[in-house]
Amino acid sequence: MKHPEEIRLDSDDLIVSKTDPKGKITYANRRFMEIAGYSEPELLGKPHNLIRHEDMPRGVFRFLWKTLQEDEEFFGYVKNRTATGGYYWVFANITPDYTYESTLAGYFSVRRRPNFAAVAQVSDWYRQMRAIEAQETASRAPEASMQWLLEQVRQQGCSYKDLVNQLEELPE
Ligand SMILES: Cc1cc2nc3c(=O)[nH]c(=O)nc-3n(C[C@H](O)[C@H](O)[C@H](O)COP(=O)(O)O)c2cc1C
Repeated sequence: MKHPEEIRLDSDDLIVSKTDPKGKITYANRRFMEIAGYSEPELLGKPHNLIRHEDMPRGVFRFLWKTLQEDEEFFGYVKNRTATGGYYWVFANITPDYTYESTLAGYFSVRRRPNFAAVAQVSDWYRQMRAIEAQETASRAPEASMQWLLEQVRQQGCSYKDLVNQLEELPE
């Protein structure tokens, strides 16, 4: 059953934001503001962890930043918090954003409605990642849970990117 505080994106919803190289929000589209429940002045200049949901494992964000620092695009499932304490799941694509002079301006994120069969699978992995993090020291937790996630991917015999793309194809 659907949780009462959950917002489910429509299939034509797109949530867009841009950040500087450190992850401070420099742009948010209208749909982002409507769904997250923040006004533009409340978002601009704030770190993107403003909407971080406590159910999200640190290892996912470690992998996200590692991917971006390797100049690759990141795909993944993210549970975000709204201003009023609700939540919404997204399928996010984050890419480095370069100026025409090829210097890094920041990052660009486009999220859309996730496949909810995939969300069920991923929430289970994220629960296990948080359990691993709870047993580690704060400094070791993100790396330990990221390695666990990457091990799950290896066991599927494909890359992380292939795995999330397969998850998006699951029958809902
Ligand atoms: C373009 C971009 C978009 C991001 N979007 C989100 C997001 O929607 N939700 C989120 O929790 N973190 C997002 N992050 C990651 C945050 O910057 C941050 O790493 C994360 O919330 C974990 O917080 P922490 O790094 O303070 O532990 C995004 C980062 C970038 C570069």
